[in-house]
Amino acid sequence: MRKVSVYDTTLRDGEQTPGISFPLNYKIQIAKQLDKLGVDYIEAGFPAATKGEFEAVKEIVKLGLNSKISALARLVKEDIDVAMKTDVDMIHIFVPTSKIQVEHTIKKDREEIIQEAVRYVEYIKDHGFECMFSAMDATRTEVDYLKRIYKAVEEAGVDIINVPDTVGVATPFSMYELIKELKEHLKVPVDVHCHNDFGLATANTYAAVKAGADEVQVTVNGIGERAGNACLAEVVMALHALEGIKTNIRTEYLVETSRLVERLSGIKLPPNTPIVGENAFAHESGIHAHGVLKHAATFEPGVITPEMVGHKRRIVIGKHAGRHQIKKILEDAGYAVDEETLTKITEKIKEIGDKGKKVTDLDVITIAEVIMGEL
Ligand code: KIV
Ligand code: ZN
Repeated sequence: MRKVSVYDTTLRDGEQTPGISFPLNYKIQIAKQLDKLGVDYIEAGFPAATKGEFEAVKEIVKLGLNSKISALARLVKEDIDVAMKTDVDMIHIFVPTSKIQVEHTIKKDREEIIQEAVRYVEYIKDHGFECMFSAMDATRTEVDYLKRIYKAVEEAGVDIINVPDTVGVATPFSMYELIKELKEHLKVPVDVHCHNDFGLATANTYAAVKAGADEVQVTVNGIGERAGNACLAEVVMALHALEGIKTNIRTEYLVETSRLVERLSGIKLPPNTPIVGENAFAHESGIHAHGVLKHAATFEPGVITPEMVGHKRRIVIGKHAGRHQIKKILEDAGYAVDEETLTKITEKIKEIGDKGKKVTDLDVITIAEVIMGEL
């Protein structure tokens, strides 16, 4: 059975979402929840960025969680030294490699970048830390250069290389080809980090795993820079349920984790969010609800149940509601209604629904009581 490792970056890339800055107590709550969820690595922050960030990473390390803790650092000695002082398990170093980013940001010779990458991987390993190396903007970097820099860090002893789709321009096809080529060229494990600029982050991560990637970088609810990162719940459940590829995630905590991050980040989830959204297992249309009441797999994927992810199935009453849903709600409330009464109740509910109003289960019972009282 194939298994991939889950590297969560909610507390680092997720916190780079415009407008989010988690105070220390929020970071601690999220780190504990990620540990309960079973992520393999928590990227706790970027210690060289601010004093508060440094302290937060140190406090998360002190929690002594089962998940390993990682810290981000640029390919700069000062950043790496600060990260080492937090006592994390892993240091994640990154450097731009695409021509556009090198030319407009660090302005270094690209051969010199390879030498520095090797030097700092050796430096980190000599100090007894695990090391991840990211070639930032990998998906816009020439593949030959990518292969050379990754090979060089592999030979320097890196533990894992990361392939970031920094600006979200990969497609499932291009990602599949890239990861396949890198896997053929390298012995070291390969991780992927996908951004969601075209809504493809989950699909690209999934394609990378199909091509042999060993680890996925994700955030809870897909929060992150611009359109965000690959969403933990979507990636994990697509791998589990559609491919039989396992992770260490305790999927029954996915909804609980999503709700916590929704509340602490203030980023509200649309109800139609896959897996964890309010409507992920909700049915209103009469045909669907009737089917689902008989057998859930009629109008749900079937390979995933609400219980698996800590959710609940909901039958919603509205203008699309059918007699079976209404009858079930009434039966559950202890009312047996004849067909004629049920028709009257259904008509009334549809009339209310047509006016754009929501009808709760309690409303259904009240409507039924009024109609039955009139009879
Ligand atoms: O998107 C990106 O390239 C990153 C790196 C720091 C890995 O977040
Ligand atoms: Zn990123």
